[in-house]
Amino acid sequence: MNHPASSSVTECAPQSASPYGTLPPTSNPALRKPVSLPRLLEMHARGEKITMLTAYDATFAAVADAAGVECILVGDSLGMVCQGLSSTVGVSLDTMRYHVESVTRGVRRVQGTAWIIGDLPYGTYHESKEQALRSAAVLMQAGAHMVKLEGGGWTADTVHFLVERGIPVCAHLGLTPQTVHALGGYRVQGKTLESAAIMKRHAHELQDAGATLMVLEMVPSALASALTTELPHCATIGIGAGNGTAGQVLVLHDMLGLNLGKMPKFVRNFMADLPGVPGQHGIKEAMQAYVAAVKQVSFPDNALHAW
Ligand code: KIV
Repeated sequence: MNHPASSSVTECAPQSASPYGTLPPTSNPALRKPVSLPRLLEMHARGEKITMLTAYDATFAAVADAAGVECILVGDSLGMVCQGLSSTVGVSLDTMRYHVESVTRGVRRVQGTAWIIGDLPYGTYHESKEQALRSAAVLMQAGAHMVKLEGGGWTADTVHFLVERGIPVCAHLGLTPQTVHALGGYRVQGKTLESAAIMKRHAHELQDAGATLMVLEMVPSALASALTTELPHCATIGIGAGNGTAGQVLVLHDMLGLNLGKMPKFVRNFMADLPGVPGQHGIKEAMQAYVAAVKQVSFPDNALHAW
């Protein structure tokens, strides 16, 4: 059976070789179960690690889906990796809508199953719950299944407002790049007893408000593991938070070795030598290796990639 939302697009797509890049062959949808929120929470309950990567366009999203990545985050990191901005602060809602639409088309054209998360950019949910709803609606109508927003307890009312109106929300604690200037740089958060206690309080407030995923960025691994155990209804997704979280996320360009500056400590370049994959390999194999490493809890390695 064809995916109803994608069938017309798929039927119109030319099947012959294209000079502009061809998406991976259509997989058999009967063999693949769409990723849903209950399924992600079941994985958390069972202790199966959740895999997430960022993607910003149709081709990379389709390849990530074909590689078995469960969640695709259309992150506002696109401001830095696609637009060349020096931080994520300058990303607009219209830019996010464009990239969410592109990713959604890519996943639909291959009849993919990935759960798509759209990042609400800076200034689009800070004013009021109503502003957040209007912004979230733009990304949901562009194809996102869930929106992500950064910040602690002050966002709990907004999370509750969105969730009550049928919009799943991913929270984001720890290093929140939209407030990098206030934080004084890209630094580990929650290192002191006091700041760890505050982060725990915020995490519980966000779970109580209905957040069902929570990115923990640059958080000590012991704190991230404790939060993962304490939050049964909200699956933690770590980036620089050790291997005790319910899942992992990396920025696509980082894990493909395309970070031309100093690679953050928590990143592994999956385009470099892959164990068990001799010789040259492509991007899909690198993504498959990432999925396998996260599932087997060999990435991240707490001795190398965490605090
Ligand atoms: O924008 C983004 O890509 C993110 C990830 C770093 C989690 O928020």
